[in-house]
Amino acid sequence: MAYTKITKAVFPAAGMGTRFLPATKATPKEMLCLVDKPLIQYGVEEAVAAGCTEIIIVTGRGKATMEDHFDRSPELEASLEAKNKTALLEIARSVSKLAKITYTRQSEPLGLGHAVLQAKQIVGNEPFCVLLPDDIVDASIPCMKQMVEAFYETQSSILGSEVVEGDAISAYGCLDCTPDPKNPRLLAVKTMVEKPAPGTQPSQNAIIGRYILTPRIFEMLEHITPGAGGELQLTDGIKALLQHEKVYGFSYEGKRHDAGDKQGFLRATVEFALKHDKLGPDFRAWLKTFPL
Ligand code: UTP
Repeated sequence: MAYTKITKAVFPAAGMGTRFLPATKATPKEMLCLVDKPLIQYGVEEAVAAGCTEIIIVTGRGKATMEDHFDRSPELEASLEAKNKTALLEIARSVSKLAKITYTRQSEPLGLGHAVLQAKQIVGNEPFCVLLPDDIVDASIPCMKQMVEAFYETQSSILGSEVVEGDAISAYGCLDCTPDPKNPRLLAVKTMVEKPAPGTQPSQNAIIGRYILTPRIFEMLEHITPGAGGELQLTDGIKALLQHEKVYGFSYEGKRHDAGDKQGFLRATVEFALKHDKLGPDFRAWLKTFPL
């Protein structure tokens, strides 16, 4: 039976965010604010634009503000209503209306593969999207929408991919792959390696934080053992999946920011501020006054 609809998206958000200390000591990394929205809201909006109606957030200790963010806020709404601030009221309400959001917990941050496994019962036996909320993808067609279309074409798991030059690839999962002759954006995956030591990478094609996975991945994740960094790696689960099914990389169209990293976050902030409808023009003029 061909899959024709993907409705669920999983957001692993239970990590410790150590690269962003001290900001992430008491604030979830996923709630860091990029211009005027927390990182995770960008991802949720992308999943909704790709047709997802059910969002599953994998949370952990100290992550409760995410639940508050996507919930209704009756006191705030009543106050804005009383003051007739209708535009702000609409902004506050729209966040809680984005999608049906369910939370599940990862009791210990044992790795991305383990985090995705926590969503098994809620996802059930259907293909699903995974979005890492600290990867922000700026694209004219939302990245996950591009990938969902590729999934309908291949009926196989799809991994968002981009070329990362030089030894920087060692920070990523890396694909050993060949471009599909009919669709050069699709890369047929032979195998993959998580965080290859410099010089050992099979290619410069990195896996980014966007995946569409078939439900068989859960069976694979149940059997993986700790891999790179001592963590239960999603890449190892997908590598096991490759023994049973085809898997494709997908060279998405767009630009990714690693907003879980301080430098990446700063760059994303400037780019998104410059593009912002209301804030952009003034911000651009102000930036130009800097003697850079
Ligand atoms: P990262 O490796 O970027 O997140 O994982 P991290 O571990 O929180 O960050 P650093 O490296 O220490 O700074 C990507 C996503 O996967 C989630 C994270 O919350 C993040 O959104 N994750 C990671 C989990 O949910 N559980 C884990 O065990 C690991």
